[in-house]
Amino acid sequence: MAERARTREAVAGWSAALTEAAAQVAECRRCGLWQDATQAVFGEGPADAPLMLIGEVPGDQEDQAGHPFVGPAGQVLDHALAAAGLDRARAYVTNAVKHFKFTRQGKRRLHQRPDSGEITACRVWLDIERAEIRPRVTVLLGATAAGAVLRRAVTISRTRGRPIPLGDTTALVTVHPSYLLRLPDAAAKRREYAAFVADLRRAAALLGA
Ligand code: URA
Repeated sequence: MAERARTREAVAGWSAALTEAAAQVAECRRCGLWQDATQAVFGEGPADAPLMLIGEVPGDQEDQAGHPFVGPAGQVLDHALAAAGLDRARAYVTNAVKHFKFTRQGKRRLHQRPDSGEITACRVWLDIERAEIRPRVTVLLGATAAGAVLRRAVTISRTRGRPIPLGDTTALVTVHPSYLLRLPDAAAKRREYAAFVADLRRAAALLGA
């Protein structure tokens, strides 16, 4: 993983602006989340990625590893992307907010949803990522990512799977993979996972994949 981090920008052929933002976000003090987080978790992926995936905020494992979507939600995402015929290595993966937000419960660090002030403070980084990558398709994973990009409150059930033209990119809203992990029964999990894959297939179709 350390090797991946060191060579990440060079391999991905990032622009100077994106490389600079990845360095600067490590020192970001635009909101208070940096104080308890291990590190900022910037996006990853090739500069010419046709697909951008935007989540909410790094989780516990992402905070420790310094990479987005490497924990349980990342595993769900990886499986669903593969099922939809999408290659994660060809996607740029990031989050609306770059520092882990949590409360402590004993030894556990429990994820907390970022508030609107934190999302707004962090938007500067997401805007740079979007401007530098300029993906053809942008998948918004959950209400936080959808709200951060569409700049309005989004109800997932009403918005999901419908292409939304957004300048140079087409946005698609779907659920956050953590939602699938939280579902209590196996039947609901299967049904909602299939719907998630179907949404990602729409992204693949828009890309002509
Ligand atoms: N959830 C997110 O939104 N992003 C991650 O990177 C991990 C979990």
